[in-house]
Amino acid sequence: MDHGRAAGVDAEPPFTDLNHVLTTTRAVRLRLDYDRPVPIEVIGECLQLALQAPTGGDAEDWRWVVVSDAERKARLAEHYLAAYEEYILKPLHSAEGTGSREVKGRLGGVGADGQVGDRIRRVLRGADHLARTIGRAPHLVIPCATRPDPAKGGPGTTSALYGSIYPAVWQFNLALRARGLGTVITTPHLYRARQTAEILGIPDDALQITMLPVAYTKGAAFKVAERKPVNQVAYLDRWGQPFPYEDKPFGQAGPA
Ligand SMILES: Cc1cc2nc3c(=O)[nH]c(=O)nc-3n(C[C@H](O)[C@H](O)[C@H](O)COP(=O)(O)O)c2cc1C
Repeated sequence: MDHGRAAGVDAEPPFTDLNHVLTTTRAVRLRLDYDRPVPIEVIGECLQLALQAPTGGDAEDWRWVVVSDAERKARLAEHYLAAYEEYILKPLHSAEGTGSREVKGRLGGVGADGQVGDRIRRVLRGADHLARTIGRAPHLVIPCATRPDPAKGGPGTTSALYGSIYPAVWQFNLALRARGLGTVITTPHLYRARQTAEILGIPDDALQITMLPVAYTKGAAFKVAERKPVNQVAYLDRWGQPFPYEDKPFGQAGPA
């Protein structure tokens, strides 16, 4: 598979080739340009596109808090780093704690010996850098679900709750990418959800979903991700039955 940039695609944004955008929207942590301002207008445009995503029952039960104020961002960043250190970094480096197994269990690429592979090592390096710098992002965007939380005894299902916001979150990621911006879906702040809610005045019935640091990217070329081939993860007609497809290299028009 060709993991490089598809031939014939514009080297600079805006990117209009959908397959290019779909294959190069990466989690950006080390290449967020914290020094280049992002006009609020651009965030508005990307949110407008994001809100074209579906919600269960067409309920549009979401709210998006865009934090641009430096002092508020700094307070959020303090909580993010504290949560990251306590719930991710410390358990990851504790020799044999249950925390370590729990954190590693959520990571791909951990061998039977419990050692993380190169790919995850790179992710962790980026995540660590992000945790120490996230407050410098021009904007922190916090999508919240206002759909009743099934865990709190309301109607609905967990699938419908998260499924009614993550499509829009991803659409926001794609809209940013097309314009030369980037972000990464993050969740450590949820360990400090109460403090985050206090800082931003988020009411109790709004469930924070993620925190997205938004910035222009340093450079616009991003690679196609290495993923397992379709036939390793898809089945035809019943679980376990091989799906007859060989991955093709990505061309400008998609797998070609
Ligand atoms: C639900 C979810 C939560 C994530 N949480 C974090 C996070 O807290 N910190 C982080 O640096 N990356 C986080 N990521 C980004 C993933 O690590 C990243 O998407 C994955 O490594 C694949 O990389 P790629 O998106 O560049 O292909 C999260 C992604 C998802 C979908």
